[in-house]
Amino acid sequence: MKEWYDAIKEAQSVEKLEDIRISVFGKKGVLADEFAKMKSAPDNEKSQIAKELNTHKNELMNEFTAKKIILQTEELKRAMMAEAIDVSLYGSQSQAGALHPVMQTMDRIVEYFSSMNFAVKTGTMVEDDFNNFEALNLPKYHPARDMQDTFYFKDEMLLRTHTSPVQIRTMMSTKPPIRMIAPGAVFRRDYDITHTPMFHQVEGLVVDEEGKVSFANLKYILEDFLKYMFGDVEVRFRPSFFPFTEPSAEVDISCVFCKGQGCRVCSQTGWLEVLGCGIVDPNVFKAVKYKNVSGYAFGLGVERFAMLIHQIGDLRSLFEGDIKLLEQFQ
Ligand code: PHE
Repeated sequence: MKEWYDAIKEAQSVEKLEDIRISVFGKKGVLADEFAKMKSAPDNEKSQIAKELNTHKNELMNEFTAKKIILQTEELKRAMMAEAIDVSLYGSQSQAGALHPVMQTMDRIVEYFSSMNFAVKTGTMVEDDFNNFEALNLPKYHPARDMQDTFYFKDEMLLRTHTSPVQIRTMMSTKPPIRMIAPGAVFRRDYDITHTPMFHQVEGLVVDEEGKVSFANLKYILEDFLKYMFGDVEVRFRPSFFPFTEPSAEVDISCVFCKGQGCRVCSQTGWLEVLGCGIVDPNVFKAVKYKNVSGYAFGLGVERFAMLIHQIGDLRSLFEGDIKLLEQFQ
């Protein structure tokens, strides 16, 4: 029997140990064999042999059980070492990108107007003088051109100063009725904390039969839109001037920073100017050869909206590619 004690002691794996178990305790195993042999032993020796065999049986079983636990534990340890993950190592995944805050704001604006059945139109960033100025009732001598100085190419081509030329492009290529917005980049010769040479606008234009489009319609949609963007703000319309609308208005919201109390951002007025709008000037319809129609138009600066929504102090910081700033808007 000694060799079986040794075999158990020396077994290197759970598998090997299992083989030993079968050889010792199995139906045709050593113990079964010995018990069988016992039957042919003289009667007076039988009980002694049985006693010894039972002792071996118990002891071998104890040895076996103890060894099995040791081997299983070792095997588990080995498996865990092999599969271990070092959580202190740097991961290899790349960082997910995110939309720029200006684009997020633009998307939100487009989302609102799409839900109101406005089609989304685009023009070109390099425009001609006719679309950008002339057809918008801004003739060559007009002093209002000075407010929108830009970058010129030869042959009266220029970087568009606003998205209003998309009004002209749309009306020149389609018949009324029109219900559109035009989001996109525009360019001006400006640079300070609230102006960059490139920025984004969203234009709006609605045209229908004469008498069907009123200032009341314009007022309703803009108030609803501004509440969608800024929450519970007050909205006011102030008379203003744009060559392509008559009458024209500038629209203010109650200051989102001080709730209308007066602060540095709103220059103590309690109001923030957010967009320009008006009833389309008859001269614009003349330029695109539209007859017997009425319409309204509006235009807004997307960066200004993003600054107010996210409370960003300097507009230029939006274009510096500063990851620390941009990551805050993911
Ligand atoms: N195009 C004007 C601007 O850039 C905004 C505007 C658009 C005003 C449409 C009225 C109507 O200042």
